[in-house]
Amino acid sequence: MSDTAEVLSSQELELRVQSYIDTQANLDLLRFITCGSVDDGKSTLIGRMLYEAQMIFEDQVTSLQADSKRQGTQGGEIDFALLVDGLSAEREQGITIDVAYRFFSTDHRKFIVADTPGHEQYTRNMVTGASTADVAVILVDASQGLLTQTRRHSFIASLLGIKNVVLAVNKMDLVNYDENVFNQIVSDYETFAKQLTFDRITAIPLSALKGDNVIERSGATNWYSGPTLLGFLESVDIHRDEDTQPFRFPVQWVNRPNSDFRGFAGTVVAGSVVPGDDVRVLPSGETAKVDEIILHHDKLHKAHTDQAVTLTLDREVDVSRGNVIVAADSPCEVADQFDTSLVWMDSEEGYVGRSYWMMIGTTRVNATLTDVKFRYNINTLEHLSARSFGLNDIGRVTLTLDQPIAFDPYLVNKAMGAFVLIDRYTHATVGAGMINFALRRAKNIHRHSHVVDKQARAALKGQKGKVIWMTGLSGSGKSTIANGVEQALHAQGKHTFILDGDNVRHGLNQDLGFTDADRVENIRRTAEVAKLMVEAGLIVITAFISPFRSERDMARALFEDDEFVEVFLDVPLEVAEQRDPKGLYRKARRGELPHFTGIDSPYETPETAELRIPTGEMSLEESVEQVLKYV
Ligand code: ADX
Repeated sequence: MSDTAEVLSSQELELRVQSYIDTQANLDLLRFITCGSVDDGKSTLIGRMLYEAQMIFEDQVTSLQADSKRQGTQGGEIDFALLVDGLSAEREQGITIDVAYRFFSTDHRKFIVADTPGHEQYTRNMVTGASTADVAVILVDASQGLLTQTRRHSFIASLLGIKNVVLAVNKMDLVNYDENVFNQIVSDYETFAKQLTFDRITAIPLSALKGDNVIERSGATNWYSGPTLLGFLESVDIHRDEDTQPFRFPVQWVNRPNSDFRGFAGTVVAGSVVPGDDVRVLPSGETAKVDEIILHHDKLHKAHTDQAVTLTLDREVDVSRGNVIVAADSPCEVADQFDTSLVWMDSEEGYVGRSYWMMIGTTRVNATLTDVKFRYNINTLEHLSARSFGLNDIGRVTLTLDQPIAFDPYLVNKAMGAFVLIDRYTHATVGAGMINFALRRAKNIHRHSHVVDKQARAALKGQKGKVIWMTGLSGSGKSTIANGVEQALHAQGKHTFILDGDNVRHGLNQDLGFTDADRVENIRRTAEVAKLMVEAGLIVITAFISPFRSERDMARALFEDDEFVEVFLDVPLEVAEQRDPKGLYRKARRGELPHFTGIDSPYETPETAELRIPTGEMSLEESVEQVLKYV
């Protein structure tokens, strides 16, 4: 069969899946991932294996999965569901992840291979593909030796908990099947991999192009006595222990067709369950007994790991999507702050202080990157200190959630500890990570509620506390207009305070410069101070460029709806540059002031500001008047 995907209707596909499953039902399944750089022959290798192993079919598993789930096919759907469980959350967000799954089988085993594009920027795909893999096949071009990507992919495979690695030294034909070249690469790799957590590394010299040691043993490598690649994949010992782990069932949706029936649909991600089992719903902690296990129209005696079923409970408990039903006597942990290993996948950096959506299991929560412990130097695995995460960076970070979630550490249970981070605006997947352990928040700190509260303080001043958040380019008139507004309010007997970037940066924020990471922190602190002042009943006027939408929204989220007024001082760059009150634009143009907003640092135009003032077309008095009118 050729190595091109056919276009199949969903019924045809389903039929073929079913017949494939039936004939292969008794073979065990090995999932593996191939990783390599662009030109090292990955596609050739997969193509050859599929061809020589008489591949049954291949297709885009995404549609297959969606169909078989909807139709609730029995038995064999398990294998296929496994593939994409980690992705279902992303798919529902309309996020595509570019991993091609291919299926093939031999007389000994069936295989699913996750094929991931090899470019540096596709680390994301690898993470996605590798999280369910038993074996990672790491390709190295014999004529090139180890590359940074080889190390990065190996490191990610290790982080993802893969224990079995094949070092496939490809293109041996280009180096005349030289044993010394092979040995050198293997020895370099073993040195590097000492710091990783693999149990076993199997190095195989091969040529995907010529077929040496892929399926047939090669006459050109008589010095090599190990297995061929397929021979290894057919015989490597893998054992999974998901079924003996405590029961875990993230709830995908609550099925309530009528008032008589209330079922919880999802996939068993660990352990098994039988009717009558005592279970606990997390995070709430409520307990119940399992009443029925339903698959399609049948009632099951037991549901195993990876099976998609609907559970009913013996009594009314509050269960919603994203909750996890667990064994009552071995529940998982619940926490809202974590030490995690994170792989960054976006060209826009991740900054301490910024919030993202975390998709974990079947739930979505807000997560703030609260600390970067370190980044790895991928070549040496040294720890580097950092305040932000760039494309392909891997390291350890603290994430703080806005609500507690049920989880297991990734190494205990992959499905319960793996997550992705999503940009809240672009919906791009910006990171993938693994929970290492929960961090307890400072335990003995409680919020005091004081008798004199925000309302009382404001009432005494005869006003309502609020923040007028001015944003705009340097030279857009923030400080000037803030001054005018404060003067007018002051004259009316209002209690006010101006937080001005230039001033705050002399004190509280004197440790911060103008990198993106520093600006994020500058605005975070300012917003927190403004919040305290609003608590004190003051009318606060802030004058900061505040160039990023994300941080302006973060500031907004700290306040009640009617307490936050975003004022966008909208002036064309040319006009601001013309004004250049402090001569900074001229300096920036001369290259003497790096990261200057509008020149070589971005300003993200507000889209939801309460007020837009075109200060280029209005006098100062008019601008001030506009603000006063609004507040
Ligand atoms: S913000 O981007 O972090 O919000 P902030 O408003 O505090 O900036 O500070 C901006 C002021 O710092 C500008 O008005 C200008 O006077 C001064 N400044 C010095 N260097 C820069 C720079 N690289 N970019 C922008 N402003 C700068």
